[in-house]
Amino acid sequence: MATIRELFDLTGRVSVITGGSAGLGLQMARGLAEAGSHIVICARNAERCEQAAEGLRAIGVEVLAAGCDVSQLNEVEHLKDEVMARFGRVDVLINNAGRAWFAAPEEMPLDRWQYVIDLNVTGTFLCSQIFGREMIRRKRGKIINIASVSGLRGKDPSVHNSIAYNTTKGAVVNMTRDLAVKWAHHNILVNAIAPGFFLASRNRGRYEERKEHILGEIPLARPGGEDDLKGAAVYLASDASNFVTGTILSVDGGTTAW
Ligand SMILES: NC(=O)c1ccc[n+]([C@@H]2O[C@H](COP(=O)([O-])OP(=O)(O)OC[C@H]3O[C@@H](n4cnc5c(N)ncnc54)[C@H](OP(=O)(O)O)[C@@H]3O)[C@@H](O)[C@H]2O)c1
Repeated sequence: MATIRELFDLTGRVSVITGGSAGLGLQMARGLAEAGSHIVICARNAERCEQAAEGLRAIGVEVLAAGCDVSQLNEVEHLKDEVMARFGRVDVLINNAGRAWFAAPEEMPLDRWQYVIDLNVTGTFLCSQIFGREMIRRKRGKIINIASVSGLRGKDPSVHNSIAYNTTKGAVVNMTRDLAVKWAHHNILVNAIAPGFFLASRNRGRYEERKEHILGEIPLARPGGEDDLKGAAVYLASDASNFVTGTILSVDGGTTAW
């Protein structure tokens, strides 16, 4: 029988976090590193990844920082080769890279729709497929998809007017469930986190403009902060969740409770 500290311990594991150079990805990377995992972070801007990696190395784990556009097959293949050459395996994949485009449905430009689909849906699938093949070989792995509360229901346009984003996050929710079912026999556990509104430099302007509407949706009456996602990520990455697959864990201050 394992102790609770052992169950949450990630010492020596290898975790890949897409979009790990900033925002929620970097927060989760920090959480996993603090639990002992070696870290791979990737994003399109390799320089920003390297800057983020410096901070993570100070925690005392090994960190590989790499430039990669997750919507491009050849770039994801190249990233996987780099990870295998450096660490020889991957234990955890967090599909976090994602973006929104804000426009009313009747005005949504087709190229922006496609951009959001390519990144949020195809990127999540490609990384799962390519790193999943390595997990299948070892008969173990944990995949954590970053969905959103916006993928669980329709959203008030004064809070989040992004039909493409909300559609893709709904797709990520069901991709999670379907992959969990299909890869259970390989001992690959697939779960999602559905964050509510988290404050980040990128959305601070939108928050200030729409504060009343945004907070009005959150029973805890505050946005998510710099430590609020770490626990869920470590839980789903660790042996503490070894009997959990296909679940969607909301971390949203109660947004989806009412
Ligand atoms: N913040 C929130 O309130 C909130 C709420 C619910 C869900 N989420 C989800 O949480 C995830 C992270 O959100 P965030 O707010 O932290 O976003 P963010 O601050 O904009 O960070 C996005 C990260 O993804 C990377 N990225 C963007 N396009 C990429 C691509 N094509 N390939 C690889 N990396 C790419 C960015 O770096 P580069 O630009 O250098 O590529 C950056 O590292 C997203 O999936 C988002 O939908 C966020």
